[in-house]
Amino acid sequence: MKKVRIGVLVSGRGSNLQAVIDNIELGLLAAEIAVVISDQADAYSLERAKNHNIPAVHISAKGYKGKRDAYDALLVQELQKRGVELVCLAGFMRIITPVLIAAFPHRILNIHPSLLPAFPGLHVQKKALEHGVKFSGCTVHFVDEGMDTGPIIIQAVVPILDNDTEESLSTRILQQEHKIYSRAIQLFAEGRLKVESNRVSVIGGLTESNAFLINP
Ligand code: GRF
Repeated sequence: MKKVRIGVLVSGRGSNLQAVIDNIELGLLAAEIAVVISDQADAYSLERAKNHNIPAVHISAKGYKGKRDAYDALLVQELQKRGVELVCLAGFMRIITPVLIAAFPHRILNIHPSLLPAFPGLHVQKKALEHGVKFSGCTVHFVDEGMDTGPIIIQAVVPILDNDTEESLSTRILQQEHKIYSRAIQLFAEGRLKVESNRVSVIGGLTESNAFLINP
């Protein structure tokens, strides 16, 4: 099977990046990471990439305050140069602009640690606890011009326990992130994601494992 060439955009520790690397190396994911790009020079994600001989590039945002378009044009240039077909945001802490979106229409994925559309933005595990919801989880979605909006591909549900803290909940959600991000990338690689308006369907039908997951 042809491998999809992905570019992963990161800012920090990169545990989702690591899960994708591991699944590729295990032969579970028909993808090849063409480049990992960080806006932060000291992101541990860059080390992870180097440890696996994956091109790791730091593109500094210095001097690009208020010039998001210009910064994204640098990203597009680097991604296109590397022959990237699918862009995966994995803890990339910048708001992306139409410049990037137009260059990769329906070809940018994001992972978010809540059941969207509930709790977009930051500190979402804390917000879920404060709100008292009984279930949270994570979502992989195509990126559009909104903040954590865009057609949803897959979600995993994580029940919230009475004694949960922000940390314990984040840890359990992260475990599921590591599973569903690779699953979504694999569905993309297989050409099985069909987007119609805001709905994503899986060509060949849904199975429980690619429709939803409920995890204790
Ligand atoms: C994850 O919780 C992801 O959902 C969010 O940012 C965090 C990144 O974590 N978008 P990591 O860098 O992949 O460990």
